[in-house]
Amino acid sequence: MTMRTESTIWQGVGRRIYLQEVGTRDGLQMETVFVPTEEKIALVNALSEAGLSKIEVTAFVSPAAIPALRDAEVVLREITRRPGVVYSALVPNVRGAERAIDAHTDEFNLVMSCSETHNLANLRMTRAQSFAALAEVIKLAQATPNGPSLNVSLSCSFGCPMEGDVPTEVVLDWAARFIALGVQGVTLCDTTGMAYPPQVAALTAAFRARWPGTEVTLHFHNTRGMGLANVLAAIDAGAERFDSSLGGLGGCPYAPGATGNVCTEEVVHALQLMGYATGIDEALLLAAAQRLPGLIGHDIPSQIAKAGRRLDLHPVPGDFEAMRERALARS
Ligand code: COA
Ligand code: ZN
Repeated sequence: MTMRTESTIWQGVGRRIYLQEVGTRDGLQMETVFVPTEEKIALVNALSEAGLSKIEVTAFVSPAAIPALRDAEVVLREITRRPGVVYSALVPNVRGAERAIDAHTDEFNLVMSCSETHNLANLRMTRAQSFAALAEVIKLAQATPNGPSLNVSLSCSFGCPMEGDVPTEVVLDWAARFIALGVQGVTLCDTTGMAYPPQVAALTAAFRARWPGTEVTLHFHNTRGMGLANVLAAIDAGAERFDSSLGGLGGCPYAPGATGNVCTEEVVHALQLMGYATGIDEALLLAAAQRLPGLIGHDIPSQIAKAGRRLDLHPVPGDFEAMRERALARS
């Protein structure tokens, strides 16, 4: 008989996992249609009602670069703020930070890439220039009374579609520089679905060993079908925070071949079956996801939105009694 190592990963036993919704930012930034502002507000409200602990509501980026999110301040001002929910927004520079502070954003999600090529393509800056610009944003946020908390998202932490593998030391070095400036959280982003489970487990464990007091989030795209496997690998290595996107929308407009994030309702469905506590009401979440195709004008990647939950029963096709009688008559 082969030896089997005991793993606790399949039994959540009530362990809390936090899902952080990025669909209204990472998702909608990729869409060509402009989702009306009041629909975005309703979507954010539906997500907080469903129990998401953090929502990346929008991005304070150039409206010329990302027209889909040009209504960022109105959305942030007009959503219903549910106590305990962190309303976050992507902030790329000081101009964005000023706008986000005016709109009372709870958390800034600063973004730069661990890959020089991807950073130039996405943000039109070298990594050193990005870091200097974000250091200014951090100073501004820290000098603001009741200012936002700070998280940095490191794109391409698991590989770059133009450069290939990104060494672990490079990722940890950039994390170290931001942590030294006082950010409370770091998100390791698999921008184009290059991460695979052992790599995820190793980077998560290395990060947690070095910075046990810093909140680490994992951000996976399902580009190569490994999203859920990567979430489980990260949980096994001690992670408890994940970005995910309603309907599985998402992708980086500046990364070739990018596709959607891990899908919130798929991750919640799997984790709840495994006994993890997500604090999320699946029925409300699914109802919100089912509104998406009508808003964006196309089908969504979510498999749960199509198939329903594991024990959602479907009507028996045809006349059950007649089928039974025919079957019995044959015996
Ligand atoms: N909010 C509003 N407008 C902004 C802005 C912000 N945060 N940042 C830049 N702009 C404006 C500038 O004022 C300028 O406007 P103008 O042409 O009317 O003068 C225009 O955007 C372009 O500015 P430019 O100087 O060419 O670039 P930049 O270096 O200031 O901005 C980025 C670079 C990266 C901030 C900008 O290109 C951007 O927001 N890109 C989107 C990145 C993104 O969201 N990627 C996907 C998510 S990871
Ligand atoms: Zn992403």
